[in-house]
Amino acid sequence: MVPDVNNERDVVRYYRQPGSRLGYRLFLHGTKHFGFYREHDSPWNWPKALRRMEDVLGERLAQPPGARVLDAGCGVGDVAARLAGRFGLRIDGVDLVAAHVAEARRRARRRGLDPLLTFAHGDYAVLDFPDESFDAVYTMETLVHAAEAETVLREFHRVLKPGGRLVMFEYAREVPTRMPGPAAETFRQLNDWAAMPSFQRFVHGTLERLTAEAGFSVRRVEDISRSMWPMLRSFAVIARLPYAAVRAVGLERYAVNSMSAVEFWRHRAFWRYEIHSAEK
Ligand SMILES: C[S@@+](CC[C@H](N)C(=O)[O-])C[C@H]1O[C@@H](n2cnc3c(N)ncnc32)[C@H](O)[C@@H]1O
Repeated sequence: MVPDVNNERDVVRYYRQPGSRLGYRLFLHGTKHFGFYREHDSPWNWPKALRRMEDVLGERLAQPPGARVLDAGCGVGDVAARLAGRFGLRIDGVDLVAAHVAEARRRARRRGLDPLLTFAHGDYAVLDFPDESFDAVYTMETLVHAAEAETVLREFHRVLKPGGRLVMFEYAREVPTRMPGPAAETFRQLNDWAAMPSFQRFVHGTLERLTAEAGFSVRRVEDISRSMWPMLRSFAVIARLPYAAVRAVGLERYAVNSMSAVEFWRHRAFWRYEIHSAEK
């Protein structure tokens, strides 16, 4: 068997499995990131929270209209569409799953945003762009899937112009030996089944260190976990019964999204949702 050095086979398998496709489509209309909540927001108003998280990204990118930006791991392109529509950014999205790219193109056309948005099927560890192509690069909950984050960060550094900005919305976790054994084992299983080898290794401080080692100046790391917890909690409420059912028959690995919702909520003290801002 050919070794899966880029984690491509596992990532594609995870996103193409019926549970993932149905879950993201049913609950988030295909978008695949958490929302940002303010005090008194309803936890069930997911579209509002999703769009606000995308606006927070736009604010952290702080680019003028017309700036050229890379969306690494763009999914179905909803994040890029928001940033193009609201901030006037010109965005190139890249994703490993061909079906995501096709859907991103369809949505851009439907929204009349195709002059600002371009999507390509590919791996962000080996980008098909010349050096210094972009004013900014961002990731929205995808670097956790990388087989080797060092390679990806070097690639982001290469395609950014000098002074260009890198913003990453990613997860970081507690060191396994400081977690209760069953919680650490649950993280290991989930990161394996959801194809997230880099989340398994992103213990607190790791992404900052790797970003600096790739040549960036790290400007700021923000822990915004509490602003996304209402969405995680609402998913955990919905997933509780389906997860209990699959667990009773030992089939958790076929319901990874339900398991993630319940277990990542239960063990929320052991991981954070962070925004990393850096400059080349
Ligand atoms: C959690 S989803 C986030 C999608 C999108 N950023 C959003 O917020 O809706 C992670 C995405 O990263 C993509 N991905 C994972 N590894 C990748 C890689 N090496 N190169 C390009 N895309 C990748 C997946 O296919 C998936 O669409």
